[in-house]
Amino acid sequence: MGTTWSQMWPPTPTLTEKNLPSQTGKVFLITGGASGIGLALAHILYAAGDRVYIVGRSEANGSTAISSIQDAFLNLNLSDLSTIAPAVAAFQAKENHLHVLFNNAGVSLAPLGSTSAQSEELMMATNCLGPYLLTQLLLPSLVTAAQDPATPPHSVRVVWTSSIAVDTQAPVGGLDPADLAPAPTPAGAGSEEQQLGWYLKQSQQIKYAVSKLGNWYHAAALARQVGKQGVLSVTQNPGNLTTNLTQHMPRLVVLTVRPLLYESRYGAYTALWAGLSGELGEGDQGAYVVPWGRRHPQLRGNLVEACKSVEEGGKGRADGFAGGRSKRDVFAAGNKTYSVSQLPPNDRIPGINNSEPTPTSLKSLRS
Ligand SMILES: NC(=O)c1ccc[n+]([C@@H]2O[C@H](COP(=O)([O-])OP(=O)(O)OC[C@H]3O[C@@H](n4cnc5c(N)ncnc54)[C@H](OP(=O)(O)O)[C@@H]3O)[C@@H](O)[C@H]2O)c1
Repeated sequence: MGTTWSQMWPPTPTLTEKNLPSQTGKVFLITGGASGIGLALAHILYAAGDRVYIVGRSEANGSTAISSIQDAFLNLNLSDLSTIAPAVAAFQAKENHLHVLFNNAGVSLAPLGSTSAQSEELMMATNCLGPYLLTQLLLPSLVTAAQDPATPPHSVRVVWTSSIAVDTQAPVGGLDPADLAPAPTPAGAGSEEQQLGWYLKQSQQIKYAVSKLGNWYHAAALARQVGKQGVLSVTQNPGNLTTNLTQHMPRLVVLTVRPLLYESRYGAYTALWAGLSGELGEGDQGAYVVPWGRRHPQLRGNLVEACKSVEEGGKGRADGFAGGRSKRDVFAAGNKTYSVSQLPPNDRIPGINNSEPTPTSLKSLRS
């Protein structure tokens, strides 16, 4: 209870636009950077540096958001996996390095039945699948930045975005990746409802919480994947902020919770600390940051166990969610499996297990 309380009424932020050092020369990429927390973060980073890319699905919104960096808008729809590789290619045509990737974009309480372009449940697709693919495709830029001798250790980071819902509503033991698959009923047996897997049977609120646990899973799995190459991977609950995220909530609920919400810039302070604080280092791989920038004081033990690999004595659920340790190039969603890579083989990153043959386009391998 104390943990929840302290995330709702956090101590004063320690890293803000007032004491952020110059970020000139560093390259930042923020998904969902055209509104809410992402926009507030883009303003802070752009004021301190010069290369901030915002990623979103509406160029008009992006340009309006920060007219001075409109050249740095990357058009991409996280709920359509086919749009991701072209946006990454556009970014990589301009930049060799990426110092901090903020996987900030997300959707909450999407109307029941909403799906992505690949027919996945919309929150899982937007909050987990799209960001996973985006991150995997951006790894060469992140690893190149991390291995540049001029780059300070632990300053190249991927920041995932979770929520207080992870503490309060994620299932005991976390999500078992098998829960995303349809129920194991014989073909044609049972009603459509009975054939749904565990995840699709949950309320929209629980689905959101599970997708945000998925972001912590991704942080933990990515840390094991590229931590040794110098990329720090963490997740964060930005806090409870007044943003468009409440757009799908019933009006009465919005009015009731509004007094508990803070200005969006406070959420940007949490992300800023996760992405730039010098307090985070090697021991913080897979860490969970809470408002307005500090380590989570008391993680749920059963979720920590879910995030740890089997070799670390955990349940290996994060690795399973991220496609399995030996098959980083392939990730599962619902009852489909997708291939990550559109990169030619000579762009593969040494030391990263991308040993599978790499199809030249993202495609469903089986349905
Ligand atoms: N606000 C809170 O209290 C709170 C609490 C905990 C966690 N969070 C998390 O914080 C993150 C930022 O949310 P926010 O509060 O700033 O809400 P927001 O203002 O609604 O921002 C969400 C951003 O994500 C983008 N987005 C949604 N679907 C997308 C898609 N398919 N492809 C590309 N971009 C997409 C939105 O773009 P469009 O404008 O095009 O939809 C928007 O820019 C989310 O991950 C959210 O889950 C927020």
